[in-house]
Amino acid sequence: MNMLSKVGLVTGATRGIGRATAQHLLNQGFQLAVIGRNADLLEEWKAQGVLALPADVGDASQVDQAVKMVLEHYGRIDAVVNNAGITRDGLLMRMTDDDWESVLNTNLTGVFNVCRAVVRPMLKQRSGKIVNVASVVGISGNAGQVNYAASKAGIIGLTKSLAKEVASRNILVNAVAPGYIDTDMTRALTAEQRQLMLQHIPLQRTGKPEDVAKLVGFLVSEDNQYITGQVIRCDGGLMI
Ligand SMILES: NC(=O)c1ccc[n+]([C@@H]2O[C@H](COP(=O)([O-])OP(=O)(O)OC[C@H]3O[C@@H](n4cnc5c(N)ncnc54)[C@H](O)[C@@H]3O)[C@@H](O)[C@H]2O)c1
Repeated sequence: MNMLSKVGLVTGATRGIGRATAQHLLNQGFQLAVIGRNADLLEEWKAQGVLALPADVGDASQVDQAVKMVLEHYGRIDAVVNNAGITRDGLLMRMTDDDWESVLNTNLTGVFNVCRAVVRPMLKQRSGKIVNVASVVGISGNAGQVNYAASKAGIIGLTKSLAKEVASRNILVNAVAPGYIDTDMTRALTAEQRQLMLQHIPLQRTGKPEDVAKLVGFLVSEDNQYITGQVIRCDGGLMI
């Protein structure tokens, strides 16, 4: 099968890491579908011939509908990147139910919803690659992010478990754990927080969305035939 017949799906592709990943897959020759919440930003993808679907990953029926449309349009689904994610930071003592639930719902239930929707067609194809975007804080924890860190640790457990469930059908499931990547998400940090973070990064710079996109691109490519159930950090050495 040549690359032109490979079909990829990226969630949260309207900006940041998701946007860079979707662009990278497009450049690699994937036929692409993207899921995002911002209908206006999705128009840019449509202009590039991408199947752009407005959906909230935390809503199972919207995800099922979006995946159905991908299958109707392209007839198969080879690579899925679960990238959509949010933060609602704060100390546990002051964290509201809504802060907790919205982060868990988007970041963790969102990955579950998408995986459940795409695994059946992948099982039938007897092939597929899934990459879930976790975070280094899902490994290390981070004060002020109990909701976010729990969601990302959950993604890691989900990834390893699903990798074991579907390996016999040649479906590879991995997670990437970015460190500090320069996107709208991290632009919310104060200058002091940024400076403090930089001091701990051996490569002495923040990551670019493209740094993560290239790692994801490798994991979903034909070059990856034997890596599954792994959590691969992309953090400039932050967690060495
Ligand atoms: N930026 C970093 O330093 C960093 C570090 C580690 C992990 N991550 C993870 O990488 C992923 C992308 O982060 P980013 O920095 O590009 O963030 P971002 O805020 O720039 O982009 C997030 C994208 O997800 C989309 N999204 C959010 N909730 C959604 C929902 N319910 N349904 C559909 N789409 C939704 C947004 O619309 C946006 O397009 C996230 O999972 C994030 O947790 C980021």
